[in-house]
Amino acid sequence: AVSDSRVPVALHLDHCPERRVIEDVVAAGWSSVLFDASNRDLETAIRESREVAELAHAHGIGVESEIENIVGVEDGVGSDVIAHAYSAQQVVEAAQASGIDLIAPQLGTAHGVYHGRPKLLPERAREFRALSDKPIVLHGGTGLTTQEFQAFIEAGVSKINISTELKMTYMKSALASLRRCEQTQEWDPPTLFNEIGGAVETMAVGFFEIFWPTPSAMATGWRSTRCSTNCRSRCTGATTSTPHW
Ligand code: 13P
Repeated sequence: AVSDSRVPVALHLDHCPERRVIEDVVAAGWSSVLFDASNRDLETAIRESREVAELAHAHGIGVESEIENIVGVEDGVGSDVIAHAYSAQQVVEAAQASGIDLIAPQLGTAHGVYHGRPKLLPERAREFRALSDKPIVLHGGTGLTTQEFQAFIEAGVSKINISTELKMTYMKSALASLRRCEQTQEWDPPTLFNEIGGAVETMAVGFFEIFWPTPSAMATGWRSTRCSTNCRSRCTGATTSTPHW
């Protein structure tokens, strides 16, 4: 599937506190890992993040780092309680000391579905951007409005994680498709998978429309590469941010 793809495909290990799992996926050639050291004290988090970065970099793999925990439980990992919180300066110093590549700080978001409006912190992203040129990652993207995403992008966030919305879209479209099969008594598996694929694609395109970088987001630190020859839309062919389509 990857060799047939017209877009870049990456295999990223998200939120992993277990060193042994990271060692396994690094050895297996995954693209990147998020080492979640937010359950360690600061000194241990820095030391272990450095060890993870050394191992991953030796295999050409990038490391995202979380040392203050982003609230919410995802796939059984994480907590609804803030265990460790630091100043932006401390987080940046830790990133420099450990040599990790991307910083995933607490920005007021949480994993999962929001039950009230979160107190978002785009100004904290701006603070990080002023202190470091390492890309800033926003977690807990499900449920944010277009304006909220734009505020984070304007503030310098480079990567946005969305999971719950994708899972809900996938499962709800599967449910709707199966209900239709039950009504019509036509049980055609390709129809199910086509409908799920279409729903997920529509959802993803909606996010791409929002995330296409504004000139100021480009200026505040998007990593640039030459575009590939097979990108499909809106690419000027000039140097632009990655990934793009
Ligand atoms: P959501 O599940 O809230 O979209 O968060 C995803 C995420 O941050 C994955 O790391």
